[in-house]
Amino acid sequence: MSDSIGIAILAAGKGTRLKLDIPKALSPLLGKTLIDYVAHESLTFSKSHSAKADVSVVVGHLKELVISHLEKQTSLKDINFSIQKEQLGTADALKAFFEADVKRWQNDYTLVVCADTPLLQAHDFEQLLLKLKTNPELVGVAATFLTDSPKGYGRIKKGQNGFSIIEEKDATDDERKINEVNSGLYLFKTSHIKENLFKVNDKNKSAEFYLTDLFQPHFKVVSHLCDDHLVFQGVNTLIQLEEVAQVLQKRVIDKLMLEGVRFINRAGTYIEPTVKIETGSIIYPNVILEGNTHIGKNSVIESGVTIKGSKIGSNTHILSNSYLEDCEIQNEISIGPMARIRPGTVIQDKSKVGNFVEIKKSHLHKGVKISHLSYVGDAEIGEMTNIGCGFITCNYDGANKHKTIIGKNSFIGSDCQMVAPITIGDEVYIASGSTINRDVPDGAFAIAREKQVTKESMAKRFLK
Ligand code: UD1
Ligand code: CA
Repeated sequence: MSDSIGIAILAAGKGTRLKLDIPKALSPLLGKTLIDYVAHESLTFSKSHSAKADVSVVVGHLKELVISHLEKQTSLKDINFSIQKEQLGTADALKAFFEADVKRWQNDYTLVVCADTPLLQAHDFEQLLLKLKTNPELVGVAATFLTDSPKGYGRIKKGQNGFSIIEEKDATDDERKINEVNSGLYLFKTSHIKENLFKVNDKNKSAEFYLTDLFQPHFKVVSHLCDDHLVFQGVNTLIQLEEVAQVLQKRVIDKLMLEGVRFINRAGTYIEPTVKIETGSIIYPNVILEGNTHIGKNSVIESGVTIKGSKIGSNTHILSNSYLEDCEIQNEISIGPMARIRPGTVIQDKSKVGNFVEIKKSHLHKGVKISHLSYVGDAEIGEMTNIGCGFITCNYDGANKHKTIIGKNSFIGSDCQMVAPITIGDEVYIASGSTINRDVPDGAFAIAREKQVTKESMAKRFLK
């Protein structure tokens, strides 16, 4: 517990290769952004070693956006920021980290990690710390890995003692063949940085201050070769962004499966890490679950369903191709196929919403049935009421929205419209094809349609 560790997350660069018009750190990744992952793991690591976290994100390019994004998240509120005025290289970025708070020179260790490596976890940082602690003479360790395509990475050039890191641009043809590369994750004794950071120069092909120059054969530094090169996958292009998303998605779904959630076929299923699903539920292929969605026990989510920020109870069945957003669907309910449940809707136990039904900002009490082809907006429908096919709440008069209130145990025939504002009582019966624009009291029968006219033998006038 006693080691003090400062953590610098480097995120000042432009990330032009992603071709997004937002800072690279804010690239969308499984419902969060790229930087959130490293930020979260850095905090976890920091807090496991000291009471007060010292994690700072070095920002530069479009810094206001990065800062305001991270400040908004309560789980990341202990993170602070260091401003790099000009992007002069990774060594210069680390200078900005110390300039932002000179107390950082007193930390025993300093960990440096890039914002664009979202697969790293706190235990990867832990390994580097172990390396330095078990070898007290060492002043720095760089995590490295072997790859068949080292292009773009700094190469690990071993001398008789120690090693140096040669950047792609500065490497000779022979050095480019080296396949042990620098991951961009380092742990230093802070004293080593203090003695050498300001000696780093920009005499290289990129005219940048390279942090990698803190690794030289005459320093007591080691490379820590990691077997799992996958965790260092950086994000420089949209292709790599999709690749890391797949790895993170696998982690999310593996965890759910180990907790007893069944996936028929995970390919094409998208589940954000914020989603919670309880034991016994079944998720079909091509399901999208986003945000703070919570699914209870033994529920079934069929193929093509999208659920955003909604609470689904237990033993509930969401049939194919339904779209649910910011709503609450309680227990033993059936929704869909092809239903749309819009924000502000609450559907209570044992209700049924069938195909081609849209429900907006409405409250369905227990056991309500709306089985086919209806629009229900700004309505409250009482317990056990049955709504026939083709029902419409006329909730909008062109300027304002109005409420439709229907009591319990009522029966609304097919093809009815309710012109809101309107109140229908309990145990009411409304005949099919009625356009209802006046309130109906408890127990009443209402019919509002033209009387039928039948003329014998007249059809031949119209039939060709
Ligand atoms: C760097 C390493 C390289 C390593 C690779 C791993 C150096 C000189 N090279 O190269 O050896 O193999 O990472 O991915 O460090 N940044 C700043 N300020 C700057 C410049 C960069 O904050 O002035 C940040 C970037 O936002 C990024 C990180 O530092 O998060 C790394 O910079 P990048 O330009 O991606 O370095 P690489 O060329 O990938
Ligand atoms: Ca990089």
